[in-house]
Amino acid sequence: MSGLLEIRSLTVKYDGDGNAIKNIDMTVDHKEIIGIVGESGCGKTTLIRSIIHLLSSNAKVVSGEIIFNGQDIIKYNKEQWRNLRGNEIAMVFQNPGSYLNPIIKIGKQFVQSIRNHRALSKREAIKKAKETLEKMHLRDCDRIMDSYPFQLSGGMKQRVAIAMAIAMEPKLILADEPTSALDVMTQVQIANELMALREDFHTSIIMVTHNIGCAAYMADRIMVMNKGEIVEFESKAQIIAQPKKEYTRNLLNAIPELKGLEA
Ligand SMILES: Nc1ncnc2c1ncn2[C@@H]1O[C@H](COP(=O)(O)OP(=O)(O)OP(=O)(O)O)[C@@H](O)[C@H]1O
Ligand SMILES: [Mg+2]
Repeated sequence: MSGLLEIRSLTVKYDGDGNAIKNIDMTVDHKEIIGIVGESGCGKTTLIRSIIHLLSSNAKVVSGEIIFNGQDIIKYNKEQWRNLRGNEIAMVFQNPGSYLNPIIKIGKQFVQSIRNHRALSKREAIKKAKETLEKMHLRDCDRIMDSYPFQLSGGMKQRVAIAMAIAMEPKLILADEPTSALDVMTQVQIANELMALREDFHTSIIMVTHNIGCAAYMADRIMVMNKGEIVEFESKAQIIAQPKKEYTRNLLNAIPELKGLEA
């Protein structure tokens, strides 16, 4: 395999329910940005949480393989996951509030998270944390390091969460609606910052979004999902200009401003 990630026939179900995702096949290349779009409940979060082994305890991988850098990571044990998660694959959650600990200052959380992955002194970890916050164009990093999450705006918290995800320069970032709770200007800034990451670190990104316009802006390829299955998975140009499936056409027609957009 030449790409970074290959998923083969992945099926996941939750206890007592039918399959939440069915027979998913996908590849992700180095430096590639993939947008995953589809209606609420179609399985987007289930898919990306399976990749980073963070499914809830009532979920079960029924079948399939997830090959990352040539290794089937579904078979990984706890120790192997501890090494992989954060270092090689990192996740940005939809709501940074659910990721940041509300009662610990940002600096302390960030330093702990860096030192969980690297044998750095406290001083070195503080330096790395500040440098990474600066990369996310956060000004006044000293004040941010000394703040509790509630003292920051939504956009700042999301940038902090992304900074924590990129600190180890992972090969793959999974982002679950990283901008949907933010205003349009902040959404565009964060999208641009994520796109700059792949230039700087050759990071691949899988981004889940409700907004096909956002996927059209950022992604190289777009995966359209419906009811746990892939409807189509093609280049952005193909999906926007020549969607093959009626489901995709309906999604596109729901956003008038996209009509006629050159992808
Ligand atoms: N923890 C859970 N326990 C049981 N069922 C779940 C759980 N999480 C998701 N599901 C079910 O799995 C299916 C896929 O859900 P998932 O959260 O992956 O969808 P999604 O595309 O991310 O939706 P949204 O856009 O609303 O975030 C849905 O039918 C959902 O009800
Ligand atoms: Mg979701």
